Amino acid sequence: MKKTVKKIQKYKIENKKIAALTAYDFYTAKYIDSAGIDLILVGDSAANVVLGYNTTTQITIDEMLIFTSAVARGAKEALVVADMPFLSYNVSIEKAIENAGKFIVKGADAVKIEGGSDYIINLTKRLTEAGIPVLAHLGFTPQYINTIGGNFIQGKDFDAALKILEAAKKLEAAGAFAIVLELMPKEASKFISENLSMPTIGIGAGCGCDGQILVINDLIGKFDDFSPKFARKYFDAKSTIIDCAKKYIEDVISGDFPNDEESFKLTKEELSKLENYKQC
Ligand code: KIV
Repeated sequence: MKKTVKKIQKYKIENKKIAALTAYDFYTAKYIDSAGIDLILVGDSAANVVLGYNTTTQITIDEMLIFTSAVARGAKEALVVADMPFLSYNVSIEKAIENAGKFIVKGADAVKIEGGSDYIINLTKRLTEAGIPVLAHLGFTPQYINTIGGNFIQGKDFDAALKILEAAKKLEAAGAFAIVLELMPKEASKFISENLSMPTIGIGAGCGCDGQILVINDLIGKFDDFSPKFARKYFDAKSTIIDCAKKYIEDVISGDFPNDEESFKLTKEELSKLENYKQC
């Protein structure tokens, strides 16, 4: 059965944790959906882990729309949330609603927007009123990397945690159905989670949140040198891909690939014609 925003919100009341992952393509979405994942975020982390850009600010709305439609086709039950990329929602409310609508047309069930400014709070209200559910995002907000100045842990003292809670409360009042809390001490995210009605979904925010999200590439070990402290690697896709490619290269060079079972064959009759062919 399709997981709706209402169902995700009910998890908090039922004291059930939300398990969320990112995905960017059809088959990954299909597989993690069949595994029972609750929410799939088509994250703008695609900028780094799929397209090889340095920051998430480099990915465009057109690129995100392609990933979103692929994921939406693969996910039958999970709630699909599209991450609105940098500047696709900050120019004006009208433009933001128009852009958010493009993700819904491509099959997303909701959109995620970063930040807690008055503008973002107002936009959350307007999107919700327009029928577009909003997943908020506070703590470390990667799209603001150039103003933040680096991947810094947020909410590191009481005042900072309270400030995040206050912004989160305004986003909740504006209609956000849930919120991502990124990079903060576990006690701060627990404090924020306990003082909100909407569910919190943590990444690098410890176990005090109502759910967790990870970037799929971190989960399956498909990354290069950098792996965040908070990620748990369940598989080594990088080594597996390299090992498979090495073995394949060996098999092609040695002539072991393709073998008879991997080849199409002519009928005996056609084969004998071919063998009896003499060039004039
Ligand atoms: O883009 C992303 O992957 C995110 C994280 C919260 C998972 O925003």
